[in-house]
Amino acid sequence: MTDTVAPAPAEATAARPYSPGLEGIVAAETALGYVDGEAGRLLYRGYRIGDLVERGTYPAVANLLWTGEWEPRHHLPTAPVPAAVLTALRALPLTAKPMDALRTAVSVWGATQQLDWPPTPEQARALTAFSPSALAAFARLRQGLEPVDPDLALDLVPGFLYQLTGNFADAGTARALDAYFIVGAEHGLNASTFAARVITSTRSDIASAVTGAIGAMKGPLHGGAPSEVVEQLHKVGTPEHAEAWVRDAVARGERLMGFGHRVYRAYDPRAAALRKVAEAMDNKPDWLELAIKVEDVALRVLAEKHPERALKTNVEYYAAAVLQGVGLTPDLFPATFALSRHAGWTAHVLEQAGANRLIRPDAIYTGPPERNLPA
Ligand code: ACO
Repeated sequence: MTDTVAPAPAEATAARPYSPGLEGIVAAETALGYVDGEAGRLLYRGYRIGDLVERGTYPAVANLLWTGEWEPRHHLPTAPVPAAVLTALRALPLTAKPMDALRTAVSVWGATQQLDWPPTPEQARALTAFSPSALAAFARLRQGLEPVDPDLALDLVPGFLYQLTGNFADAGTARALDAYFIVGAEHGLNASTFAARVITSTRSDIASAVTGAIGAMKGPLHGGAPSEVVEQLHKVGTPEHAEAWVRDAVARGERLMGFGHRVYRAYDPRAAALRKVAEAMDNKPDWLELAIKVEDVALRVLAEKHPERALKTNVEYYAAAVLQGVGLTPDLFPATFALSRHAGWTAHVLEQAGANRLIRPDAIYTGPPERNLPA
């Protein structure tokens, strides 16, 4: 056998564009979400996020994403957890991360369902209704408590809180968490949504797509860090200490958690919507006054330090405040974010399947040229 000379790898692919992380590459068309970082706008099917939070509920917003129809009274209760899922959750170590438990639960749920191709809005609805029950069940099991069955009269978010605590949440608390679910529902072609679309493009099923999406969201570069905002508020302690604490932190070169964004150059519209909901709560929790004071100081100090760059409040700031305010422990924050994103993931699954093309990008080969195995 003679050695053949393969084309130099760089030559073979040099003519084609390469963008690490696919940055700037358009990989899909979507009618679902529009993120306008310059103007601080987020639209779901054309509707402004602030209006959706003010006038909608999470089930209505999820239905809008799945079907394109705006039905403000759309009802979606949480769904029972199949026995096979409960068996799997009971078998997990009590120390398992809630994200791992949720990913496992969705995978087992998929094995209990008949999920034919193409995926349907009914499948999207069923999975979105199942996951809050599964996370609530795991949160109770690890405390030595038995899971609570769904109350079908409740909508998804108050239903989740009921299954988590065994008690009915007051209207303000349920509303605040519902607002969080709405702002978390969809955000364009982020990593987990792209993962869901890649899996769907192979004609795999919706549970596999969402299992993969949860895996993608688990990574710290995606899942956000609202618990760090909570820690920051704890460190500040009281509104009187806000000015000194923020100035010291910025002088030390620390990053203030909940401020700045890769895409938004304006006040994140999701933060604005959540702040409004938190301020409208009947029993305003103590943390809210502190959060607002720290925000005022932080915006002032960041503008002084970085006049060249708009560093505004991002979604994590009031997400943290709301999640803590409704009584969730910080280790449940990432999995709760994943619950909220179910509407967007499953809507993208439906959209991908509706005009499917197997997603299969290319790679630049950087290994050795063709050669013989050593004798
Ligand atoms: N506090 C203080 N300074 C900041 C902050 C902040 N929160 N964010 C950016 N800056 C400063 C940087 O130090 C940098 O200054 P320098 O040029 O003197 O070094 C300048 O602003 C530009 O920062 P970049 O790193 O270029 O901004 P980038 O767009 O890459 O980062 C990010 C965005 C990661 C969100 C950043 O603003 C940050 O670390 N924020 C704090 C953490 C946080 O809130 N994360 C949640 C983000 S929301 C989400 O992901 C869903």
